[in-house]
Amino acid sequence: MSLTVVILAAGQGTRMRSQLPKVLHKVGGKPMLGHVIDTAYALSADKVVVVYGHGGEQLREAFAGENIEWAQQAEQLGTGHAVQQALPYCDTDKVLVLYADVPLVRPETCAELVTALDSDDLAVLSVELSDPTGYGRIVREGDALAGIVEHKDTNAGQLTINEVNTGLMALNGRKLKGWLSELSNDNAQGEYYLTDLVEISRANGDSATAVVCPDPAEVAGANNRIQLAEAERVLQTRLAESLMVQGVTLADPARIDIRGELSVGQDIEIDVNCVFEGDVTLADGVSIGANCVIKDSRIGKGAVIKPFSHVDGAYIGAKADIGPYARLREGTQLAPEAKIGNFVETKKANIGVGSKVNHLSYVGDAEVGEGVNIGAGTITCNYDGANKHKTIIGDGAFIGSGSNLVAPVSIGKNATIGAGTTLRKDAPDEQLTLTRGKQQSVSWERPKKS
Ligand code: UD1
Ligand code: CA
Repeated sequence: MSLTVVILAAGQGTRMRSQLPKVLHKVGGKPMLGHVIDTAYALSADKVVVVYGHGGEQLREAFAGENIEWAQQAEQLGTGHAVQQALPYCDTDKVLVLYADVPLVRPETCAELVTALDSDDLAVLSVELSDPTGYGRIVREGDALAGIVEHKDTNAGQLTINEVNTGLMALNGRKLKGWLSELSNDNAQGEYYLTDLVEISRANGDSATAVVCPDPAEVAGANNRIQLAEAERVLQTRLAESLMVQGVTLADPARIDIRGELSVGQDIEIDVNCVFEGDVTLADGVSIGANCVIKDSRIGKGAVIKPFSHVDGAYIGAKADIGPYARLREGTQLAPEAKIGNFVETKKANIGVGSKVNHLSYVGDAEVGEGVNIGAGTITCNYDGANKHKTIIGDGAFIGSGSNLVAPVSIGKNATIGAGTTLRKDAPDEQLTLTRGKQQSVSWERPKKS
């Protein structure tokens, strides 16, 4: 059995009121079209064809490198006309038509529709809606599918039908070309309706059926930003439930946002309003406080991230302790049990086992050994205005508060740097290094207000 998935994406999407093509608007951090392409991949489709009209350049750019074919529909003359544009690629046993603006349909549901072709030539995915206004109505004769009537073409009796066409359809690839050649645009909208294939196939002695999707949210389209936000909530609820099933405790499943892939171990706790972006991995026993943003990072077993921390492109070792209010930037690598406290920023920093940067510091382009203590307000002066330079701090060193470490510079093992030091030259092992002058006191009268 061979399968082509045709994704309709040619609609203009004027109701988004946007410069961006509708199908590039994101749900869960990924363009709607990307979700549908992933669904096609999940079905192991032999070919994936995207029918585009507007914003072709932008679409191709967004999906460069994907294994997809592009078919242009220069004028939007209807869903049937759209599928006609993809016909050159539809030389497979089965063809599945999906909509790029229906991003949340599950691969399992699509697979059911494709499987229906084992006994019928055409299978439509339908859904029951309390308000069917605007949708094509499913007309049945007993259990059999007799036809689909577009809302604008209905008679009074058909208007009250609650079972509607989702638009998603599986078609016999060997018969599709013949059926499409019989389409006409003799209807209320003057369009070539894909839905007319139901009657055309039956008139040819072929069989058609409708598979009911039990969950309206799964097949809801996103035509404006209100529906886009609704789709976002549906997806986030799904993702939150999946996390809980995997062993994550969520303080409130309605207050977590996942915009990418979040991989988790067990016994993880996530407090409210956390956002996960890109690829994030949380090992067993990780605890994340409220209002953290975590992007493209790996968090080791039992690590604790306290509220309002921002972690981007970091590797955090087991039992490390972060925040509150910490900012870990790209290239931060924390060894196990390292501690990064409040208002500390790190970037391209390797920080050794059990080392502490507890308060108000910037540590960038740095190699920090084990058991180091970096006092409050310490800054690695890594940038000379043109180039970045490295700071190296040996095991067991103690950096006094308010020190400026002017890179490139090295601090030896077990060295102590006095508070307020501006270090311009390397500091030796074991010794105390100071750069400030002697403390002096002179008599002094404060100026008075005149
Ligand atoms: C279509 C169905 C209707 C169904 C409804 C579900 C037809 C004739 N009608 O109606 O039965 O209830 O979807 O939402 O199929 N598109 C193109 N090229 C075109 C026209 C549309 O690519 O020339 C794409 C759109 O981008 C969209 C999808 O096809 O992704 C559906 O188009 P839309 O205009 O929303 O379909 P409706 O007329 O609402
Ligand atoms: Ca529509």
